[in-house]
Parts: sequence; C-alpha cells; structure tokens
Amino acid sequence: MPKPQKFAEGIWTMDGPQVHDMGVMFPTRMTIIKLSNEELWLDSPIPLRPGALKEVQSLGKISDLVVGTPRHLWRLESWHSKFPYAKLWGPPQTRGNVIERSMIVGRTDLPFTGILNNSPPNAWARDINQLVIEGNPLIREVAFFHKKSHTLILDDIIQRYLPEPDRPLRNMFFRLEGIMVPDAGVPGDIRLTFTDRAAARRSIRKLMSWDFDRLIIAHGMCIKKDANSFVRRAFEWLGH
Ligand SMILES: [Fe+2]
Repeated sequence: MPKPQKFAEGIWTMDGPQVHDMGVMFPTRMTIIKLSNEELWLDSPIPLRPGALKEVQSLGKISDLVVGTPRHLWRLESWHSKFPYAKLWGPPQTRGNVIERSMIVGRTDLPFTGILNNSPPNAWARDINQLVIEGNPLIREVAFFHKKSHTLILDDIIQRYLPEPDRPLRNMFFRLEGIMVPDAGVPGDIRLTFTDRAAARRSIRKLMSWDFDRLIIAHGMCIKKDANSFVRRAFEWLGH
C-alpha cells in the first residue's frame, strides 16, 4: 500500500503505480504540501489505488488539486470525483490547445478554479511560489517552489533514473533520452520541442533564483541535498 513519505518539514511525496508511455513504463509520484492554513495542496495526483486516499486524508483536508503539466491532467478526474470540494488548477494549456485534443491529455471539461500562471493564487502564495517555463510551444510546464522546505517541484521536465539489471531496452531508451544517471536531466523529446531558447533561459534564470536545495520530480529519483547545482547542470544545454 503506498503511503505518503515525509520529504522535509511540511512536504510529503507519495509514489503511484507505473504508467505506460512511449512503450516504456514510468514510475509516478505526487507531492503533498501542508499549507499555512493546515489544508493540503497536491501536485500531480497519482492514479488512484484503493486505500491510498485514507493515507492522504490522515494528513489533513485536501483544498487544492494542482497539475503542472498538460500531460498529467488526465489524472485529475478520479480525484475530483472523490474530492469534489477541492479546487482544481491546471497548466496554461489546460484549455484550447492542440495538445489537449490529442491522446496525451484526454478529459479537460473538469470545473477548474483557475489556470496557473506566474503569480501564485492567494490560496498558497504564502507557502509556494511558481512560474511557467516558457519557450516550448507544446509543453508549458509550471514549476513550484515550497519556501519552507527549500524544495523545487517539477513534473516532467527533469527525470532521473538508475539502470535496472533486467530491463535492457528500458535502460537503453532512458540513456538515449538523457534521463539516466549520471547524465540525467531534461528528456530528449522535451529538449527538442524548446523552440524559443531565449524565453526558456529567462524562465530558468528566474527558477534558479529561488533558494532551493531539494528537488521533487514526478518521475525518477528526487534529490534531498545540493539540488541547485544538479538543476543548473540539467539546463546547461539551453546555453547562456
Ligand atoms: Fe509525466
């Protein structure tokens, strides 16, 4: 049974099932933050499993269900049906975008409270900062910074895996994608679709100005110390 794992003060991660994408299985993870008002903020809620909900509810009342990338919007539906009172927040491409009509995203007719931009809503502005990573017309991912624990939270844009001895094809794919340690970082397919690198550099400069030391990612291994230097390296391909 998956349980929330305390990552730092006021912030937990919870691992979900593996999901199938591009012919490979990817692990999933969501982030839970206890806001100053004691309510829970969830990013990239994982596909639901029976029993998992109780574990989350034991931490507090869920106030906000947040998704930072259009690729994870499909996961919101089941959470919304279980927690209809929780506010829904989607990335800039939640509505009216080519991506949302493709297979990647699926349902988008949920009653969103708001679309995320560079200003955190009042509900969590005291605890969490955020910005849209620009420069990629296909995926405008939203990055989050939990101030109290100095944690950067990213959904897809950085991934980080170890090789697994019995999965040679998966290992080869992850190496080619540039997401295997020690060269883990931004997946190759996402790098390719950054068409405006100057805009991307501006976003990453702002992101690097956040005082973070820890990194939570939705796919792969998180970092609990010195994450700042890792993230800086992961975006070096954007140039200066
Ligand atoms: Fe993802």
